[in-house]
Amino acid sequence: MRKKLVAGNWKMHGGLAENAALLAALKPALAGIEAVVCVPFPYLAQAQAELAGSSITWGAQNVSEQAKGAFTGEVSASMLLDFGCTYVIVGHSERRSLYGESDELVAKKYLAAQAAGLTPILCVGESLAERESGVTEAVVARQLDAVINAAGVVSLAKAVVAYEPVWAIGTGKTASQEQAQAVHAFIRGKIAALDADVADQLVIQYGGSVKAANAAELMVQSDIDGGLIGGASLVADEFIAICRAAAK
Ligand code: 13P
Repeated sequence: MRKKLVAGNWKMHGGLAENAALLAALKPALAGIEAVVCVPFPYLAQAQAELAGSSITWGAQNVSEQAKGAFTGEVSASMLLDFGCTYVIVGHSERRSLYGESDELVAKKYLAAQAAGLTPILCVGESLAERESGVTEAVVARQLDAVINAAGVVSLAKAVVAYEPVWAIGTGKTASQEQAQAVHAFIRGKIAALDADVADQLVIQYGGSVKAANAAELMVQSDIDGGLIGGASLVADEFIAICRAAAK
């Protein structure tokens, strides 16, 4: 059985006091349940201090493709490791669309994360225009191929893939369980054609307006192995309910 894994992506939200309250609520409620919070860089030390020894791991939302050097404002994978990160999100659609990250750059970030021993959460997903023009699978395949070509299919044994249709992010419009399952099955099938064992073990999260109210119907789908949660990960009761629905 594949494990289910829910990760919260706090995006650019939070502050010391808010985070302390949120983490204090999550810790006892999720005891024994593996979950992840991806926090803004300045709060990694706080996450490490609050969560060490709990079943909740933490990570970042971005990483430099460079190991070190004159790259003002960038943060390297080894720096994330210094703060106990297990995971780092790469290729989030907001990074791709707002900051111009190409498939090639995302693949470099993925490689840099893995080289440092971090587990990348590789985000893929189509825009509304792409879905409506029938190229969802082609877009997702292109995004996956950039990483597979750079790092090899076996690298996915040490990664998580998150399918996040751009039109469902922060819009309140969740993909239906059938729409999500279909793309997840496509992703797994594409990888299985290259390596069946890797595909079988790969955790594929769904992200895009997941809430406590719709988590259960998504999590029971055979190729949905958890979620990448934005807005609802900032509300303790919502995130706890989503993690519990996945753990069932
Ligand atoms: P929402 O859950 O707020 O739609 O965000 C999803 C997301 O982008 C997680 O990475």
